[in-house]
Amino acid sequence: MRMLWGGASASSQYEGGFELFNKGMDTQDCRRYIKRTDNATTSTRLLTRADIERAKYPLDGDFFPGRKGSEGLLHIDEDIEYLSELGIDIYRISIAWSRIFPTGEEETPNEEALNMYGDILKKLKSKGIKIYLSLTHYALPLALVEKYGGWKNRKLIDLYLKYAKVIFERFGEYLDFVVPFNEINTGFFSPFNGLGLLRDENREGSGYDLNDIFAGLHNQFIASAKVIELGKKMLKASFGCMAACFCYYGYSCNPLDQLKTLQYEQINQWFFTDVLAAGEYPYYMKKYFRDNDIKVEFLPGDREILRNNTADFVGFSYYQSNVCAFEEMEKTAGNLVVSTKNPYLKANEWGWQIDPVGMRISMNKIYDRYKKPVMITENSFGYNDVLEEGNIINDDYRIQYLNDHFEQIKLAIDDGVECLAYLLWGIVDIVSAGSLEMTKRYGVVYVDADNLGNGTYKRYKKKSFKFYKEFIEKEKNVVKS
Ligand code: BG6
Repeated sequence: MRMLWGGASASSQYEGGFELFNKGMDTQDCRRYIKRTDNATTSTRLLTRADIERAKYPLDGDFFPGRKGSEGLLHIDEDIEYLSELGIDIYRISIAWSRIFPTGEEETPNEEALNMYGDILKKLKSKGIKIYLSLTHYALPLALVEKYGGWKNRKLIDLYLKYAKVIFERFGEYLDFVVPFNEINTGFFSPFNGLGLLRDENREGSGYDLNDIFAGLHNQFIASAKVIELGKKMLKASFGCMAACFCYYGYSCNPLDQLKTLQYEQINQWFFTDVLAAGEYPYYMKKYFRDNDIKVEFLPGDREILRNNTADFVGFSYYQSNVCAFEEMEKTAGNLVVSTKNPYLKANEWGWQIDPVGMRISMNKIYDRYKKPVMITENSFGYNDVLEEGNIINDDYRIQYLNDHFEQIKLAIDDGVECLAYLLWGIVDIVSAGSLEMTKRYGVVYVDADNLGNGTYKRYKKKSFKFYKEFIEKEKNVVKS
């Protein structure tokens, strides 16, 4: 099959419509916008019980970007037209669990929301677009955080399976690719987004207990494998796993830099895909658990469930590469993790280091490790675009970024990597997941809105729209000829 080119988004960053279709409140609805500073990142990502109370009873002037997204539900028909005009082969969409089961525990699903999602999927299919469904992308019904403490409670596995079953029954015919969790390694770095764990301000260190984090991750691993087991009985779709890819380089050839790089890559990235794509906890975690006094509870049957239900493909998000140094050196920000600065690379305004070659390296490393097809489920350039007079957006920097990454993807394929698809992140602009800024844009379609939800939310094609459209057209023609 020819490699597919497409786009991607997430319900809480795109949809808006907090008050529509009887949605239940979820974790992403609780995240309040705070102007970007170093500390703001912690406050907007790692929520405490007090933050939840404030989200339920907001103060004047509080703004929760996840509730508005980029008003996707109000512009859905127009946005689908843009996707169709681009000629994309595949679109990655996520469903908000709390729209289907507002508290996660209702006896019956919310029909209104099911009809709404059914319509969207049908329209996409009618345009000849394949569907990649993320069953969850961070958004967890808030009631499950308040009642059970989030994913650290094993009870969530059954509730999640019940949700998955409804989705498969109703939408099975539309689904081509299914991934149970977005960036399964998020729970380790961002326990609120990934696992629905609340930060305890009175606790020393990060405010989290590593035992809770690893209990939550184990429950997600089991849930993921069980969803695959169920899905394979019900659907023809292909099932994957997905992690944020960090592409670590050792700062120098000092063996200590290299050792640290190996260890960082193991714990931050490989652990997650080793469990989901290779089917077992890797050997190196034994030492990590011992050193950090972590006990993961395996119930009878857990090992078999993981072993027998591995992912068909390995998805990954890639935005930038990271550097590990044994000694303390100057740092820069990155997606989820902080990196040592790489003297050979430039970075965007958020400090994320731009590295197209890292894409080729990552594709090779992942394919080599699992011998399963890979999929680039997120990539693009985060930039504060300017809407110029005449509603023009000259995002040449994004065209450059995309072009350079596409070249490296092709080189990786030439290396022999089997790649299913490339999905351009936030193809119609969406709210940033990390900083909650609307002005950190990734798309090829501009949405006229600011960080506080002001604006017309009108859509305008960026210069990169034409670039991506022509690129896809050419790809299709090359394969035909
Ligand atoms: C990934 C997430 O980590 O990175 C997305 O899956 C997110 O939800 C993307 O939007 C880019 O990060 P940010 O913080 O710039 O939105």
